[in-house]
Amino acid sequence: MSKSFDTPEKVIYVCTGSKCKKKGGKELGKFFKEMIKEAGLKGRVEVVKTDCTDRCDFAPVTCMQPDNAWMPQTTEEKARAAFREHILHGGPTNPAA
Ligand code: FES
Repeated sequence: MSKSFDTPEKVIYVCTGSKCKKKGGKELGKFFKEMIKEAGLKGRVEVVKTDCTDRCDFAPVTCMQPDNAWMPQTTEEKARAAFREHILHGGPTNPAA
């Protein structure tokens, strides 16, 4: 049985290079996956782990596409807010802020 080439509507890239991994990158990936599941977005939003993105001074680094929302020093609190803004609402909720 062959699988179809399904692609998600949105992707959350989580750096799990050595520096980001040490600063919680792996756990962040799990955290995002839980939020995706809770929001009922499994299959529509995916978490993709990346190798080092060359921004180690800002570890852990994440990025949400298609908004191209890069986030330095991602904490669970920041991750939750960004998820709301870029995944659930699909863009800045308050661009003037
Ligand atoms: S390890 Fe994540 S930016 Fe280098």
